[in-house]
Amino acid sequence: MAKALVMHEAGGPEVLRVEEVDVGDPGPGEVRIKQTAIGVNFHDIYVRSGLYKTLPLPGIPGLEAAGEITAVGEGVEGFAVGERVVYVSGNYGAYADERRISADTLVKIPDGVDEISAASMMVRGSTAHVLLHQVFPLQAGQTILVQSAAGGVGQLLVQWAHHMGATVIGTVGSEEKAELVRARGCDHVILYREEDIVERVRAITQGEGVAVAYDSVGKDTFYASLDCLAPLGHLVNFGQSSGPVEPMPVSLLARGSNTVVRPMRGHYTRDPKERDATAAAFFEALKSGVLTPEPPRVYPFEQIGQAHQDMEDRLTSGAVALKV
Ligand SMILES: NC(=O)c1ccc[n+]([C@@H]2O[C@H](COP(=O)([O-])OP(=O)(O)OC[C@H]3O[C@@H](n4cnc5c(N)ncnc54)[C@H](OP(=O)(O)O)[C@@H]3O)[C@@H](O)[C@H]2O)c1
Repeated sequence: MAKALVMHEAGGPEVLRVEEVDVGDPGPGEVRIKQTAIGVNFHDIYVRSGLYKTLPLPGIPGLEAAGEITAVGEGVEGFAVGERVVYVSGNYGAYADERRISADTLVKIPDGVDEISAASMMVRGSTAHVLLHQVFPLQAGQTILVQSAAGGVGQLLVQWAHHMGATVIGTVGSEEKAELVRARGCDHVILYREEDIVERVRAITQGEGVAVAYDSVGKDTFYASLDCLAPLGHLVNFGQSSGPVEPMPVSLLARGSNTVVRPMRGHYTRDPKERDATAAAFFEALKSGVLTPEPPRVYPFEQIGQAHQDMEDRLTSGAVALKV
């Protein structure tokens, strides 16, 4: 039997309850994993609250986790008992200490990368890579805006974009978060509770605006991000931490011949070769020191409710993980 965090209905953090579930032996193409670390993402909060109705109930949420393979089913090639692996799965079920999963979803964790980092940064790291290379192929010399720059994805975007030669403007909610992003190469930090984002961006860019705005906050910042764009600039709205963006008149984009995209990481990594290449690029950036994200904030498995609450209350920075 495994320990899992099961939800029977949507609601607040209290709907996630520890229950015993049967894992069983892996079927054809599957492996069984003893999980040691689980990533906690905003996606999980949207599922738990009912904003996303993508998990059949009762069900076990959670997109990503890491651990050790304890059994291998028939026909599985390339993976063996004892190997350290990480996965991201749209079929959920990561909130458990042990599970069966299709071997197709697995990525090996390279030496030098710990399981907490792997489990809590696969989604965030591959998202940052996709945003900077596929959604908007960033070029050296461009100026960009990153909303929620101290967030899990935000810190990775800031540091990676800076490394790629961009000038990075980041918004944060506190002086403490400002220090975190300055340490990761953010060239200009805007404390959005005290300063007007659009005015500061226009001043920093001598009125031009930014080539791209990466916005994961959604409802509260969408129009400010749009107002910060240079002519031909792109708004990449990849999240909705403050709520979904209201419908927008397309004619607004004519002001600067701007574009808006609402990307989902999974669409860019559907092809296993793309997924593996993205994961490899992220792990390499971690190992080589190009990325030095703040260590993930770690909660005991049973304190999932607190982890969700802290993320919703904006108390976290960087990635968030459960330790099993
Ligand atoms: N499209 C995709 O494929 C994809 C993939 C991964 C993540 N995402 C999205 O990207 C976003 C960032 O994920 P993350 O894990 O890195 O989270 P995060 O950015 O670490 O956490 C949210 C941060 O957003 C800011 N924020 C502003 N308004 C907020 C509000 N009303 N409620 C809560 N937070 C608010 C807070 O920072 P301040 O204190 O600085 O304001 C908060 O700490 C999420 O929306 C997530 O769903 C999308």
